[in-house]
Amino acid sequence: MIEQMSTPPAGDHPKSAPMSTPVISSDGGQGLTLRRGADGGSPDTPPHDPSLTLSNGHRGDEQPIIAVTGLAKRYVMGGTVVHALRGVSLTVFRGEFVAVMGPSGSGKSTFMNLMGCLDRPTTGTYILDGLDVSQMSPDELAAVRNLKIGFIFQGFNLLPRATALANVQLPMVYAGMSSGERRERALAALDAVGLAERAHHKPSELSGGQQQRVAIARALVNDPAIILADEPTGNLDSRTSIEVMAILQELNRSGITVMLVTHEADIAAYSQRNVHFRDGEVVKDLAVGTPPDARDVLQTMPHIEDTV
Ligand SMILES: Nc1ncnc2c1ncn2[C@@H]1O[C@H](COP(=O)(O)OP(=O)(O)OP(=O)(O)O)[C@@H](O)[C@H]1O
Ligand SMILES: [Mg+2]
Repeated sequence: MIEQMSTPPAGDHPKSAPMSTPVISSDGGQGLTLRRGADGGSPDTPPHDPSLTLSNGHRGDEQPIIAVTGLAKRYVMGGTVVHALRGVSLTVFRGEFVAVMGPSGSGKSTFMNLMGCLDRPTTGTYILDGLDVSQMSPDELAAVRNLKIGFIFQGFNLLPRATALANVQLPMVYAGMSSGERRERALAALDAVGLAERAHHKPSELSGGQQQRVAIARALVNDPAIILADEPTGNLDSRTSIEVMAILQELNRSGITVMLVTHEADIAAYSQRNVHFRDGEVVKDLAVGTPPDARDVLQTMPHIEDTV
């Protein structure tokens, strides 16, 4: 059951015109640019008409990027069944920044893995960017994942013996791009997260925050519709965590939808909407009033490590 909260439910907070899919273009290797159509909408969507705006701030004709209905996931362990998710329904619109919270074992990672097309639900429907992915085969899911999802893990999941540049190029290998284009786009993505000068460093030669930034660049490089991050700041100190949040806020401002899992309320505060899980269900869905700008907060924090 959804609790009644003093703050309005997510979607009730005033929201400006919906953002559209960002287009990542590598401009001759000069850098990764995140751009939208001239009207703030993508070139293939009609100009925003305020008369169509609903009370929840979204357009009547707007398509959710995530539309989940009655999603359940059960694991059979020996003779017992683990109900990891028990009928989750959730809608996320393009351009939202959602934090998923909840106690350990409440189903957050199970949910994110489903959203990231890393796994299939036992029952329920998942429409990702207009595409029903609920019952796709593992191969089909892999193809959709490569096209639409940028996934960031708590443990970075970088190849230890590969350079930052090679790690970021990896998703494009499966996308069948030429090596020149892969290199150019990977350099642009590293530049976008402030790591152009570390392109030839291996993970062991980078700080935790820098490794996570490489992972963000890798998540970005295929121009995903959504970035999903499962506790991306879980292994980082306070300042580095805020640096990662600053990057995610910037990506979100450029139009990318972001959904992250965190245990920490002060990290969730940088998002626009907090969705709380308990025992495999969504129990709260709250709008965050005015999230602080992580860049401003960084100005007030002492430097703990060199974050060049
Ligand atoms: N592959 C699996 N096989 C069996 N049970 C699983 C599997 N993955 C998760 N579970 C169970 O499903 C439930 C939800 O797990 P999940 O990892 O989604 O929790 P979580 O909210 O991410 O927790 P945490 O905050 O500790 O990361 C737990 O009871 C867990 O033990
Ligand atoms: Mg988890």
